[in-house]
Amino acid sequence: MTQAGPAPDPRWWRDAVIYQVYPRSFADGDGDGTGDIAGMRSRLAYLAELGVDAIWVTPWYASPLADGGYDVADYRAIDPAFGTLAEAEALIAEARALGIRTIVDVVPNHVSDAHAWFRAALAAGPGSTERARFWFHPGKGPDGSQIPTHWRSDFAGTTWTRTTNPDGTPGEWYLHLFTPQQPDLNWNHPDVVAEHLDILRFWFDRGAAGIRIDSAALLVKDADLPEVPDQPGPGEHPHVDRDELHDIYRAWRSVADSYPDSRVLVGEVWLGDRDRFARYLRPDEMHTAFNFDFMSRPWQAAALRASIDSTLEAHLPSGAPPTWVLSNHDVTRPVTRYGRDDSSFAFAAKRFGVPTDLAVGRRRARAAALLVAALPGCWYVYQGEELGLPEVEDLPLDVLEDPMHFRSGGLDPGRDGCRVPLPWSGSEPPFGFSPPNATHDPWLPQPKDWQSLTVEAQEDDPASMLALYRAVVRVRRTEASLGDGPMTWLDLGPQVLAFVRGDVTCVVNFGADPIDLPAHTDVLLLSSPLDAGRLPRDCAGWLRTTP
Ligand code: GLC
Repeated sequence: MTQAGPAPDPRWWRDAVIYQVYPRSFADGDGDGTGDIAGMRSRLAYLAELGVDAIWVTPWYASPLADGGYDVADYRAIDPAFGTLAEAEALIAEARALGIRTIVDVVPNHVSDAHAWFRAALAAGPGSTERARFWFHPGKGPDGSQIPTHWRSDFAGTTWTRTTNPDGTPGEWYLHLFTPQQPDLNWNHPDVVAEHLDILRFWFDRGAAGIRIDSAALLVKDADLPEVPDQPGPGEHPHVDRDELHDIYRAWRSVADSYPDSRVLVGEVWLGDRDRFARYLRPDEMHTAFNFDFMSRPWQAAALRASIDSTLEAHLPSGAPPTWVLSNHDVTRPVTRYGRDDSSFAFAAKRFGVPTDLAVGRRRARAAALLVAALPGCWYVYQGEELGLPEVEDLPLDVLEDPMHFRSGGLDPGRDGCRVPLPWSGSEPPFGFSPPNATHDPWLPQPKDWQSLTVEAQEDDPASMLALYRAVVRVRRTEASLGDGPMTWLDLGPQVLAFVRGDVTCVVNFGADPIDLPAHTDVLLLSSPLDAGRLPRDCAGWLRTTP
């Protein structure tokens, strides 16, 4: 298939700006309160104007939505709530014609309990070949009533659920690292391996330029099902970062490399150990992986400098470009996070009612955007980040959907607050998210006071977050030394991060006192106005300097 669009560029992924679309909350084309592909197609011009190189679309496949679509019932079908496969193909082609590539999300660790394989496994019973594609296991104890292992779920609680036999008696248990509606696949089974290679081809054949690999370090389990050691050494954890994973991604890379115009693999790899993280980026494995370390750090010069240094160092051996991520559909929105006394991010620490200064948070989030966009590598922008949306922390409890909230017993507020439908225009909900003749309210209610945060309101305001993001993407594109390539630190004291990229210097002031700008011939961008010619606290600037 020949496609309209930009000329092939085998290195496009090395410095791309990639916009994450969470389809359910992006734009609602048919008025049912749920975002969909029709909505995405109607807003492609917005993304082109923002100037992004690619979109990453979170799962849009047939799904009961037990985990927002990360419970996939059929990888080759679009959920009717989002549209049809033909619409997905049209979206990929239309985006491409505007110069925007599409990355789709593949969830290889688990499927939905509504997936045909799992239904067949339940029906076929113990010892069947159908069950061998999953982790079915007898319980411990004389009556099998004790769980096979005490592995803890990332979503709190146990990782095993007991089945019921056709005669009503208790049966085997099955493994699920996430919710019981997301049974884990057995990656030792050849069907599982073959099926995923075919899913990759299915989407590459439809023009996908890349695959985002969900929970990429979890797929392989130790088949002996041991307990998790107190201090597992590298490769010793029974279900995280097993050495066997690398062969899986080598096979995926071969499929990607068999297509023209660089099809890329980007892994969701949450690993503290930087050396182990780096192993996924070897030249015959993934192209890039999400760098969550930076996003987890507090807004402090030393902490962020340490993160940048260790990130660059981890990427040196492979030559893979780093990625920079301030937010996604799983974490607290940056303007909220950076407005707190503790501005670091950790899932386990999320709580309701943390005092937040949104004015401080917004100022820092603006500076953070200039900081990450100037660093070497790719930049991921999560929908609504460019509008400076805050985390919505006062959603009525009865609208919450996220299993992280429910499985924590209500302690963890969950991830719904960063998934509220986007405000596009107008002065009241649904703020243009749904068309005027909509039959339903947005699936999560938008705050009534989002009028000033709509695209429409920000478009004409040069001081808005949207105007800043547009300018950052534009300048990043025109400055050849930004994106991929080297950087050199400048020492401007412990409260300042400053680095040089060719003839552009990025400076960020974390300290209380304004600082003098280093020698420059021009100011390209500022996250906030100067204070009597000096760079104030929580402000970043891009300067034209002599290389
Ligand atoms: C990833 C996704 C998250 C999902 C989980 C389980 O972390 O980003 O949204 O809940 O995997 O699939």
